Amino acid sequence: TNGAGSSHLLRHVSSLAANPPSRLNAVVLGDALASEENDLVIPNPDFSAQAHVPSPAEYLDMYKRSVEDPAGFWSDIASQFYWKQKWDSPVYSENMDVSKGRINIEWFKGGITNICYNCLDANIAAGNGEKIAIYWEGNELGVDATLTYSQLLHKVCRLANYLKDIGVKKGDAVVIYLPMLMELPIAMLACARIGAVHSVVFAGFSSESLSQRIVDCKPKVVLTCNAVKRGPKVIHLKDIVDAALADSAKNDTVVDVCLTYANESALTKESTKWVEGRDVWWQDIISKYPNSCDVEWVDAEDPLFLLYTSGSTGKPKGVLHTTGGYMVYTATTFKYAFDYKPSDVYWCTADCGWITGHSYVTYGPMVNGATVVVFEGAPNYPDSGRCWDIVDKYKVSIFYTAPTLFVTRYSRKSLRVLGSVGEPINPSAWRWFFNVVGDSRCPISDTWWQTETGGFLITPLPGAWPQKPGSATFPFFGVQPVIVDEKGAELEGECSGYLCVKSSWPGAFRTLYGDHERYETTYFSAFPGYYFSGDGCRRDKDGYHWLTGRVDDVINVSGHRIGTAEVESALVSHPQCSEAAVVGVEHEVKGQGIYAFVTLVEGVPYSDDLRKSLIMTVRKQIGAFAAPDKIHWAPGLPKTRSGKIMRRILRKIASRQLNELGDTSTLAEPGVVDQLIALADS
Ligand code: PRX
Repeated sequence: TNGAGSSHLLRHVSSLAANPPSRLNAVVLGDALASEENDLVIPNPDFSAQAHVPSPAEYLDMYKRSVEDPAGFWSDIASQFYWKQKWDSPVYSENMDVSKGRINIEWFKGGITNICYNCLDANIAAGNGEKIAIYWEGNELGVDATLTYSQLLHKVCRLANYLKDIGVKKGDAVVIYLPMLMELPIAMLACARIGAVHSVVFAGFSSESLSQRIVDCKPKVVLTCNAVKRGPKVIHLKDIVDAALADSAKNDTVVDVCLTYANESALTKESTKWVEGRDVWWQDIISKYPNSCDVEWVDAEDPLFLLYTSGSTGKPKGVLHTTGGYMVYTATTFKYAFDYKPSDVYWCTADCGWITGHSYVTYGPMVNGATVVVFEGAPNYPDSGRCWDIVDKYKVSIFYTAPTLFVTRYSRKSLRVLGSVGEPINPSAWRWFFNVVGDSRCPISDTWWQTETGGFLITPLPGAWPQKPGSATFPFFGVQPVIVDEKGAELEGECSGYLCVKSSWPGAFRTLYGDHERYETTYFSAFPGYYFSGDGCRRDKDGYHWLTGRVDDVINVSGHRIGTAEVESALVSHPQCSEAAVVGVEHEVKGQGIYAFVTLVEGVPYSDDLRKSLIMTVRKQIGAFAAPDKIHWAPGLPKTRSGKIMRRILRKIASRQLNELGDTSTLAEPGVVDQLIALADS
């Protein structure tokens, strides 16, 4: 189905490989260089010598095959995994063009496998039963635990047996609302083992958000814990679940069982509110079940999980990933993008409530049999050195985090590879991460991807390429990124535009749960024939990719993806708010901050109390992480004559780029702009 489309990229890459810039001969750390595009950081030769992909030429060979013969490339890789039965022919089939009918992506169809089996049983069978699977580090200093692969299997099996016993079957949804206890990956794996479809809801979402997700996917059971300590604060998760379940019951969704882990370091069992007949203590019941459990063998295209994510409009959508392609893709990207070796200790700071935690805390690493650090707490508790203490304590060699977590201390000897995700990393932050944390020794994998993509799409392969600080570099094997203009025409060479992907990859999401039409219109209609990412991107003269952020109404706050429409609908639900427009602004710590313009109901005066109450409303409806950083009172909003809010102008006002407002003459009431500027800091 492809090959030709990647020709422009292959051209770039081959010309760079054939004529390396002259600086390839010297180690350049970049500070002295003027232009970021010419700023090359050369991989340490010792690192390259031991890397899975040691040079651009090697990358190029593999990349070329991956796009010219995807079926052959991916079936060779997939053959290294455990399949009860091999997939049918063809290896994959796809239609990514709306004009040719239903959008459809399938990989390894007919192949029978189980991802939990590949994570646990297969690694144990290979002799790694006694290897540490999880180093768990609690919120409080000195509180920790470990699980070997065999111990992890036993825990997963007990829970899987319990779930089966209460009637959870293949294809049933299970909602998981847990913090970063070991029970979170255990719960995910237990669902996967019996073919149930998990939907993890980040334990920072409010009861209303949780309820919305429960009503959408209708689970029989919710898995949670009574409370958690995050930093010095106790969060009563069970209360949030109780409220969510009461709310979803009102919306015709009754959950039979709430399995609750007693996290007694945060809250005693006695102080936990209890609903008889529905609530069950995890520890009391699970130990009664056997520690082995037969695997439910599933088709590669059977669903593995749902994960709700924000879009630019409407309510959160359930991104659906299936089993086989996701397994092969997350495990393979993990191995190559972090140059993973069996002796590594790997720590990803993401929470399993987000896609990063699904693909790169649980599945990708565990299919590889990696030792994974799972951290319950906050990176700045009890102080900002906590991350580095954890790196030292467990001798972490691969450290994967978000640019917002680049807390400073000093370099750590055990580190070998650094990773970054969630937002564009600016060149100076990149250099700091490289020079200070990595001691100028560790390559940085700036991984670009999304909930929808399942795994990395554009990422450096450590040791293979000279890096440019701030660039995610080149596509992963099999991925054909294209940059298009507004009309959807592919741009060649040095260019900048909308980032799309041509042709599918095994980890791609297959649909939005219960709404295939929205899947097609959101992702495949803007630029027919391509998957549209919603991000902007520039490709430089050497073919390196530079992500420039979202081009739609989605904001990335500290790596948490938030739709402006969701925050707006929370704000207007406040009885005194009549209209709201939310935009993202640059934020020093969070990457992006939430900036809300609000118009009040006629006659209501703006006050500090009202400001606080508006913010509270958002916290309650979505979660604390979505609270606006700034409320800007707007007696009127800039609108076109047809009534469309001009967000472009609001973004400029929010970032105080007042001399870049552009043409305001087409506004219905041009005067509102001056009024807004006057009220900016009131
Ligand atoms: O804008 C891009 C940004 O995060 C968005 C995806 O968010 P989410 O689905 O929540 O997944 C986050 C973790 C993969 C993208 O559309 N993004 C993610 N990684 C990068 C990035 N922007 C720039 N550079 C990255 N490395």
